[in-house]
Amino acid sequence: MADWKNLDQLDAYKALVDDSTRVDLRTVLAGEQGAQRVRRYALPMACGLSYNYGAKQVDDALLAKLANLAKEAQLSEKFAELYNGAMINTGEKRLVLHHLTRGQLGDPVVADGVDKREFYVEQQKRIADFAGKVHGGEITNAAGEDFTTVVQIGIGGSDLGPRAIYLALENWARAEGALKMEARFISNVDPDDAVNVLSTIDVAHSLFILVSKSGTTLETLTNEAFVKDALSKAGLDPADHMVAVTSQTSPLAQDSGYLEAFFMDDHIGGRYSSTSAVGGAVLSLAFGPEVFAQLLAGAAATDRISADADPLENPAMLDALIGVYERNILGYESTAVLPYSQALSRFPAHLQQADMESNGKSVNRFGEPVDYPTGPVLFGEPGTNGQHSFYQLLHQGKDIVPLQFVGFRENQGKTDVLIQGSYSQQKLGANVAAQIVAFACGKDDEDLNKKFDGGRPSSIIIGERLTPESMGALLAHFENKIMFQGFLWNLNSFDQEGVQLGKVLAKRVLAHETDGALAVYSEMLGI
Ligand code: F6P
Repeated sequence: MADWKNLDQLDAYKALVDDSTRVDLRTVLAGEQGAQRVRRYALPMACGLSYNYGAKQVDDALLAKLANLAKEAQLSEKFAELYNGAMINTGEKRLVLHHLTRGQLGDPVVADGVDKREFYVEQQKRIADFAGKVHGGEITNAAGEDFTTVVQIGIGGSDLGPRAIYLALENWARAEGALKMEARFISNVDPDDAVNVLSTIDVAHSLFILVSKSGTTLETLTNEAFVKDALSKAGLDPADHMVAVTSQTSPLAQDSGYLEAFFMDDHIGGRYSSTSAVGGAVLSLAFGPEVFAQLLAGAAATDRISADADPLENPAMLDALIGVYERNILGYESTAVLPYSQALSRFPAHLQQADMESNGKSVNRFGEPVDYPTGPVLFGEPGTNGQHSFYQLLHQGKDIVPLQFVGFRENQGKTDVLIQGSYSQQKLGANVAAQIVAFACGKDDEDLNKKFDGGRPSSIIIGERLTPESMGALLAHFENKIMFQGFLWNLNSFDQEGVQLGKVLAKRVLAHETDGALAVYSEMLGI
C-alpha cells in the first residue's frame, strides 16, 4: 500500500526547496551546447510522438532530484494501485477506472459484481454494432432514410473531450474518406446554442445522443427537452431519433424513450470519460468503430509507458514533475497549452476541465488543508492565432507562464500551397520553433519596450501527423500527467465538489427562494 503524504512532508521536495540554483535558459540554450541539449532532452512517447523539454528550466542535477521526488512520492506505486482497482477517489468513495476502457494494465478489477474491463469492452461492442447498423442503413429514421448527422447533447466531460476529439479528427477523416456522419454538439443551457445547431442541421436525418453520467444535469436535461420539442414540431417521434449514454444507476437508464442506451459508470469521472461510451458513441458514429478503436489503442500505448517508474522513461510523469517544480518552487501560477494544429482548437478547453476540475483543490485527499500551491490556471488557443492575441503578455508580461506546445510535421489534409518559398505547414512549424527560442532566449534592446527578457520555459510534443492513434496518445498523456500531479500534491483529483455551490444557488434563484445580494443579481438578470 502506498503511503499518501503531503508534498511538503517529502524529503525530496525539501531538497528542492533548499536548492536555490536556477537554470538560465538563455545560457543553456546558447550555441552548440544548446543544440545538443535540445536533442538530448527528448523522450519518445507512444505512437511516434516525442516530448521535448530542452527549453524547460531543468538540468541533469535537477532531473535527478525530480526522480528522487517521483520515487519518494511513490508515483508508479500509486498508479498501480489505481489501475488495480483501489478506491483512489476518496471523496466519492469510488474507484478510478478510465484506463480500463482502453486496456488491462494490471489485475482484473471486479466492481458492482462485474469484471470492469469486460463491461467496458461489452459497451464498445454494443456501440460498434449499433454504429454499423446506422451506417449500413439497418437503423434509419421512420421514413426508412439514413441518418447523416449525429448530435451530442451533454456538458462538461460529456461534451468537451468528445467534441475536442471529433474536431481533432474531422479533417483527417475527410482526407482519409472516413467521415461517416457529421457531428454537432449542444452543451450550453443558453437556448441560442440549441437553436443554432437545430437551425443548421436536417433534424429528420439526425440522430441525437443524450450523454449524462448522472442523468440529472440541468443543462443537459433542458437541452434534451428542447431537442425533443423540435423533433415533435417537425412531426417526428423523438424516440426514433435518440440514444442515451449514461450510468446504469441513473434515472435515464430506466427511460424507454431511446432507441438504445449505452453505459459507463461512476468509476469513470466525466472529464476522463472520452474513451468510455461517452466518447465512444459519437466518435464511432462519426468515424466508424474501427477509428475509435485506433484512438483507444493510442491511449493504451501511452498508459503502458506511463506505468514505468523511471520519469526519464515516462513522459507523462516527467511532464508532471516539471510542472510541480514550476508551480511550487518557481512559483508560476498558470500554464498555457498551445497546439500548433487547428484541429486541436478545442483541446485546450478539454484540458481546462481535465486539469482544473481535477487539481484545483485546497485540501488533500483526507480533507485536510494543504499549505502549498496546487493546480495552475490553464488556458490555451491554437497557434498561430494565439500569437496575434495574448502572446504579448507571454513574452513581455510580468508573469512567467510555462508553455506546452504541440506540433506536427505533416498536416492532416492532402492540400497545401507553396507561397513565398514555403508551404503553410512549414510556416506553422517555423512559427512554433521561433516561439520556443524567442521565449527562452529573448533579445536585448536598448529600447526596453522592445527588449525580450527570455527565460520563459516551454516544452513541446511533436508528432508526424495528428491521427486517431496519436490523438489517443496525446489525450492519455495529459490525463496521466494530471493524475501524477494530483499524487504529488496528495489531492483527490477525481471529485469536483467545487462545482456544487453554484448549482445549488441557481436552483434557489429559479425557485424564487432568494434574498440579499442573490435576489438583486437575479432581478437584474430578469429572473
Ligand atoms: O458540473 C460538473 C460535472 O459534474 C462534470 O464533472 C461533469 O463532466 C459534468 O458535470 C456533466 O455531468 P453528467 O455527465 O453527469 O451530466
